Amino acid sequence: MFKSILRPIIRQNNNNYYSSLLILRQLSSSSSSSSSSSGQSSPNRIDNVLVIGSGLMGSGIAQSCATSGKFQSITLYDVNDKQLGIAKKSIAKSIEKLYAKGKVDIESVDSAVNSITFSNRTDPKSTDNLLIVEAVPELLDVKQKIFANLYDQFKDNPTVIYATNTSSLAVKDIGLSVPVKDRYAGLHFFNPVPLMKLVEIVKLVDTSDQTVESLRQFVADIGKVSVQCRDTPGFIVNRLLIPYSSEAVKMMERGDASVEDIDTAMKLGAGYPMGPFELMDMTGIDTGKFVRDAWLARNDPSLNIASSELVDKMVADGRLGRKTGKGWYDYSK
Ligand code: CAA
Ligand code: NAD
Repeated sequence: MFKSILRPIIRQNNNNYYSSLLILRQLSSSSSSSSSSSGQSSPNRIDNVLVIGSGLMGSGIAQSCATSGKFQSITLYDVNDKQLGIAKKSIAKSIEKLYAKGKVDIESVDSAVNSITFSNRTDPKSTDNLLIVEAVPELLDVKQKIFANLYDQFKDNPTVIYATNTSSLAVKDIGLSVPVKDRYAGLHFFNPVPLMKLVEIVKLVDTSDQTVESLRQFVADIGKVSVQCRDTPGFIVNRLLIPYSSEAVKMMERGDASVEDIDTAMKLGAGYPMGPFELMDMTGIDTGKFVRDAWLARNDPSLNIASSELVDKMVADGRLGRKTGKGWYDYSK
């Protein structure tokens, strides 16, 4: 019966494996976790979202929540008011592009943008079934402090789920001050969030199945696909991508090939959508350095990564990639 419901849907989408996968996930989870007719949310449904950090990732996460139209409230929090303004503009610009191409199903760009509360306080309109996603810079002490404060603020609410978008740190270490281990996990998005379909759900030993199910449902609700993995360095994607970027820098530093030729080679010879240097510029050279330093600090010889004085200098000089107009390439012209 389940198959017969799916067959016509899959036939309509037979050119799009991911749509089919999403529909499968949505159908299977809606049978166990959809909103009830009384309007009450089921145990596994996230109703409100609080994103901590309105940079590249936080703004993309809030945007994807907004265009889904699935949440009662979305709050995007940052300590930096100027950054909140930048985030609002970049979200509006990104939604405009996607709307013009018919890639988002929204009433209007304004209504989607206005469904996000841009705030310098962690005060969601409602805290029922609240998901908190932390997306601040990749610095362990900063993230730990944020979770300690958030737990203190929300400790009396048993429906809050705490998640970090860390790229490279141990999820367990970030959440040391979150005693409700069953409601704590990693939720790793990819850049640019509005275009990238994947989200990695990092299940720690004590993360409950119910929390994982809520996160799976959340990922499906925002039109993305989840994979699950353990709290292992780099999870799935970055375990492969970080050494790849590091090798590209070493290759260039040895003088084996230029930045441009390495990028061209990987695009045309390996079919990657971007070369490693273009990707580093998009990710942020600072974020790449934080990630690399976090891995080096682990002292794990199985993590194939090297430091680079050149990258350190780029960060010190503010050559952070696209976000500052200059990185491996110059975007200011
Ligand atoms: N919002 C809306 N539109 C956007 C956008 C955004 N955020 N970013 C790009 N676009 C638009 C572009 O402006 C372009 O529009 P036009 O066609 O109107 O000009 C369109 O999307 C397509 O862009 P491109 O022409 O560059 O085409 P593309 O097919 O190459 O797609 C891409 C872009 C999806 C980014 C693709 O290049 C890609 O997949 N790159 C690799 C990304 C990747 O590997 N991400 C993972 C990084 S690692 C990570 O995130 C984890 C970590 O922890 C560090
Ligand atoms: P970013 O530098 O673009 O944004 C970070 C934001 O956090 C800034 O707006 C900053 O003002 C804000 N912030 C700093 N301290 C804060 C605090 N105490 N409270 C609230 N906000 C604070 O960084 P990003 O690229 O968005 O990365 C954020 C996280 O996501 C990092 O852990 C990173 O490793 C991870 N990540 C990044 C990428 C990527 O491609 N850039 C991809 C996946 C995951």
